[in-house]
Amino acid sequence: SDIYRAGISGSTPRVPVAGDALEAAARSAMSAEAFAYIAGGAGAERTVDANRAAFGRRQLWPRPLRDVSTRDLSTTFLGVDRPSPLLLAPLGVMELAHRDADLAVARAAAALGVPYTLSNQASVAMEDVAAAAPGGSRLFQLYWSASDELNASLLRRAEASGCEAIVVTLDTHLLGWRTRDLDLAYLPFTRGLGIAQYTSDPVFQQLVRDRVRRGPDAAAPAAPPVRLTPKTVAAGLTIARRAGAVTGSGSIRDNLRSPLPRAAVETFLDVFSTPALTWDDLARAREWTTLPIILKGIVHPDDAIRALDVGVDGVWISNHGGRQLDQSVPTLDVLPTIAERIAGRVPVVFDSGVRQGSDVAIALALGADAVALGRPYAYGLAVAGEEGVREVVRNILAELDITLGLTGHTAVGDLDHHALRDVPGGS
Ligand code: FNR
Repeated sequence: SDIYRAGISGSTPRVPVAGDALEAAARSAMSAEAFAYIAGGAGAERTVDANRAAFGRRQLWPRPLRDVSTRDLSTTFLGVDRPSPLLLAPLGVMELAHRDADLAVARAAAALGVPYTLSNQASVAMEDVAAAAPGGSRLFQLYWSASDELNASLLRRAEASGCEAIVVTLDTHLLGWRTRDLDLAYLPFTRGLGIAQYTSDPVFQQLVRDRVRRGPDAAAPAAPPVRLTPKTVAAGLTIARRAGAVTGSGSIRDNLRSPLPRAAVETFLDVFSTPALTWDDLARAREWTTLPIILKGIVHPDDAIRALDVGVDGVWISNHGGRQLDQSVPTLDVLPTIAERIAGRVPVVFDSGVRQGSDVAIALALGADAVALGRPYAYGLAVAGEEGVREVVRNILAELDITLGLTGHTAVGDLDHHALRDVPGGS
């Protein structure tokens, strides 16, 4: 109703309400590389499409005459009362969308009481994000590094900077076959973007210094070419500064001669992740943190059960928004089975393909305890920074509230399979 009231005086929203229009506005606010990285998926992007198509196969029943004059979106997640069941999914490299990046997202999330999952690939060190939105609820997402020392250090920092839980993302042990990025030969990390959690980490800084000290190693596999950009150099300089070893006059030209920027990116590429990770390794995370641990990237019901067996505190169903495995099972199709098997023992978070409030209602009706939003908030960020993120999230919550009322419910906790028509052929 705020939007309609403003319309009386001729003003229309700065951030488009409809999903397609929002994406189009974001596209024109970003470079071609940035948009390709954010919007793109793996392979022929069939998983991206399948995630959306799965929502298209569900239908909600309208139910009038049930007095829905007061409606309650609040829920409990990780033992804390929250104003809504919405979370912000971890999105790396948000500096591609807007210079304020994670700071803007964290402030917008805090203003709305929505927990923000800070990415391991964020553009801003987690301590700086915490300082920018002190009242906000944050989770830290870890990509399990090849270096256990680095994993432990990142989790220590997450704990010290006030994160409520650790989200371990499991589906990126190899980087997906991202066709749009491949065509542009563009991976942000090799340009020094999205590696702020690393360059601000003492363990990582030591790894970089060790690498420089070792010098060029003929036995080492040829490192991928790293193109030095001002940003890459800045990442190297962060390490140099913290190591008390800034070289040259500090100008970008002088420091292009320093081995640190290249070493920082190459070290990152070495330690970013490990395809050797197994279920047995996960137990070590318990030695590194006392925070609740949520596994993100669960799609198979057997893996959800296995997650319970290893004693995690939450299961996050996700196919990474279709950016990893193409032709993957869409997450919405497995949500009911996984929720049934988990049977309330730990919270089930859902993501991939959520674009509007009615999607959130459908995921809740199929058994999700919380629903995470990905690309739409990045688009809001690109269009209008912090305000853009706030608008996108507010619109989704407003549509969720209306959907709740039109389906005859007064609380999100009341949504269940009765709200949905069983569509023949649906699972
Ligand atoms: C992601 N995602 C992601 N996941 C994660 O665990 N760590 C990360 O750093 C990132 N980075 C990232 C960047 C961008 C640009 C996108 C689009 C996605 C995946 C993300 O958390 C979430 O699973 C999906 O975005 C959900 O799908 P939708 O909502 O984008 O369809």
